[in-house]
Amino acid sequence: MSVAIAGIRQIDIPWAARIGTVAVGKDILELLSSSMYIDPMTIYREYVQNAADAIDDASASCLLPPAIRGRVDINLDPSARMVRIRDNGTGIDEAAFHDRLTAFGASLKRGTSARGFRGVGRLAGIGYCQELVFRSRAAGARRVSELRWDCRKIKAILRDATFHGDLADLVSRTVETRRIDATGWPEHFFEVELRNVIRHRNDQLLDPGAVEQYLSQVAPVPFCPSFRYGQEIIAFLKEHLAPPCLEIAISGGVTPVHRPHRDQFEISEGIEDRFNELQVLKVPAVDGRLAAVGWILHHGYKGAIPPKTMIRGLRIRSGNIQVGGHDLLQELFPEPRFNNWSVGEIYVVDPRIVPNGRRDHYEQNVHFDNILNQLSPVARDIASRCRNSSLVRNWAREFERSEQSTKDKLGIIKQGTTGIARQGEAAEEVKRILDKMERITGRDLIPSEIRRRQRLTIGRIRRNLERVCSRLPKAKVLAQMSPKERRLLERVFNLVYECSASQNAAKILVDRMLREMRGRN
Ligand SMILES: Nc1ncnc2c1ncn2[C@@H]1O[C@H](COP(=O)(O)OP(=O)(O)OP(=O)(O)O)[C@@H](O)[C@H]1O
Ligand SMILES: [Mg+2]
Repeated sequence: MSVAIAGIRQIDIPWAARIGTVAVGKDILELLSSSMYIDPMTIYREYVQNAADAIDDASASCLLPPAIRGRVDINLDPSARMVRIRDNGTGIDEAAFHDRLTAFGASLKRGTSARGFRGVGRLAGIGYCQELVFRSRAAGARRVSELRWDCRKIKAILRDATFHGDLADLVSRTVETRRIDATGWPEHFFEVELRNVIRHRNDQLLDPGAVEQYLSQVAPVPFCPSFRYGQEIIAFLKEHLAPPCLEIAISGGVTPVHRPHRDQFEISEGIEDRFNELQVLKVPAVDGRLAAVGWILHHGYKGAIPPKTMIRGLRIRSGNIQVGGHDLLQELFPEPRFNNWSVGEIYVVDPRIVPNGRRDHYEQNVHFDNILNQLSPVARDIASRCRNSSLVRNWAREFERSEQSTKDKLGIIKQGTTGIARQGEAAEEVKRILDKMERITGRDLIPSEIRRRQRLTIGRIRRNLERVCSRLPKAKVLAQMSPKERRLLERVFNLVYECSASQNAAKILVDRMLREMRGRN
């Protein structure tokens, strides 16, 4: 076949693979480090993720017996501007150490059940410190291997237009290794040390509180022991994925990091809400296998949950590590704001659903789309709970206002100052309000406990009304007056009620007038 390109007739020439070296320039390192991890806190996610993979390997090979927890110690030293993250996983053996840590995108984890697979995550720290040191010992090794990236030099070379070396040249100029005697070091471990951490966004990287808050949301750590639904959620998740395994301690703190969920939470000052129902989900894949599992905790849906609770949003995790933020799935909600009223987590189990390079979203494919499609009705259900709860709250407020209004009107009837005709009108008005209250109580959405209480209230008011109407009261002072005098005063009192903006204030005024009149008689 011949092809015409730009009007020139070409003879059919076959394509052939070109064998040769591929140039990999120095700038690729900038793309794989600083440009990838824009939020400094994500470095903790990358290093904890590596720790979790190494701990899983250690458990699988019985290096970590079931009784010994996988542990990550994060040491923050603000005065030395140093961060150290150490795990008790397999570590890397001496022979592989240098090559593994200077490889780019050649992860041995690809195709396994490990969380990482791109072979770049450990470079996250390069943009945030002046020196990045990796240190490790594999079980049985007599030496600890160390590798140091000079991040300041990396940045200088990346800026230097006269440097014409490639990625390998850049690495050889900025990476150094050595071995040290292993005496006194843990049997097996891996650690990364960031030295001279740069100041970034309120110095969060060195703030133990900020690091704990971030990891409590993102890392595979246990639920707080006092969280009522924790055990039930874990029992459900255990059927489909490994439960949270890591014990993370920050700066030697005695309490390890826990997930942020508690039984109750504050919506705004003085308004609390609590969880009252656990819903668990299984999301099938397009071919009928399992794509994801998840849980949703329902509550009173009193409003948007504030960010400081760290639980808001329907969130999504892979390898039990959060991908993206609280808002990754918010587009599933008919009104996105209702995502902020929700609490729930989806755990991806299908290996075909893969986080993107930055782990702030997923690679777009049919399997991820399927999850979104299947979660849409779940989000719609949450949204309708939000709307319904808002309606119920409005009706409850209307019911309370009506109840108060019946009380005020009955009070005025009992005062006996407006004359029989007006008292009758007021009694009719109370009946109309009671009918309105009945209509509120009869609405399907009203929860049964609230309906029961509202019905009791209505019954009490009806009985009260009947009692008052069976013999309409007349104020004592008026009863003692002549009919003409009484009628005149009743007209005055009616005028007070009619001209007053508040019936309540008018009643207080009339009560006072009655007291004055009694005192004079
Ligand atoms: N804590 C650790 N313990 C043992 N080996 C580790 C540890 N951290 C990193 N490694 C080794 O270094 C390699 C490179 O880590 P890196 O985070 O760059 O890539 P990855 O975890 O394989 O993939 P990803 O880029 O998706 O995170 C890992 O594949 C692993 O072999
Ligand atoms: Mg990694």
